[in-house]
Amino acid sequence: MDINNITNKEQKIILAKKLAEKVENGQTIGFGSGSTSYLTAIEIGKKVKENKLDIKAIPTSKEIENVCNVYGIKLGNLVEDSIDWSFDGADEVDPDDNLIKGMGAAMFKEKLNMVNSPITYILVDDTKFVDKLGKKHPVPVEVFPTAVKYVSAELKGLGATETIFRGMTENQNAILDTKFENIDVSLEKKIKQIPGVIESGLFIGYKVKIITV
Ligand code: A5P
Repeated sequence: MDINNITNKEQKIILAKKLAEKVENGQTIGFGSGSTSYLTAIEIGKKVKENKLDIKAIPTSKEIENVCNVYGIKLGNLVEDSIDWSFDGADEVDPDDNLIKGMGAAMFKEKLNMVNSPITYILVDDTKFVDKLGKKHPVPVEVFPTAVKYVSAELKGLGATETIFRGMTENQNAILDTKFENIDVSLEKKIKQIPGVIESGLFIGYKVKIITV
């Protein structure tokens, strides 16, 4: 990540410092991805080093795993460890705290951390709030590579106006950025039911607490 090119960096650093205050010795913490999470992982790393804390991270991307390694934060996993709490960023937050995530393409592991956490703190600068999901961003959908054509057609059947291939994820799957005019509460489940879909960036009704500046 190029720290100099992070948008809204001042706000994100304030959020990162706020979140780092919550870290206590002995905790197992789910680490999200994206630039806000990256800055937060660094703040947590500094605190861990300065105070010689013993915590465990469950990272959602290689980039975040690397930050943990730099600061000597131990790594855990969802099979052997229990998460005390998680943090993450978001691309859009609606008035009911539903989210679009995944512009960093890490939403599969991000959702896994979230469902394994009693609470996930979502760190958002003031550009992330929308009155309706889908206003500023497409819904990223992670798809098994050979299922791209089928899934794209099925997404259009669900009302998608566009499915654009963005690239591959760390899991070697494809990402389709999918534009919907209307996102209702059932859409996340409908997308997940399509054979070939690994995960979507819709997060509707999860246990989150929004933290803002
Ligand atoms: C990563 O896959 C995403 O879900 C990020 O959390 C989201 O894109 C927010 O990213 P920024 O913190 O870079 O704005």
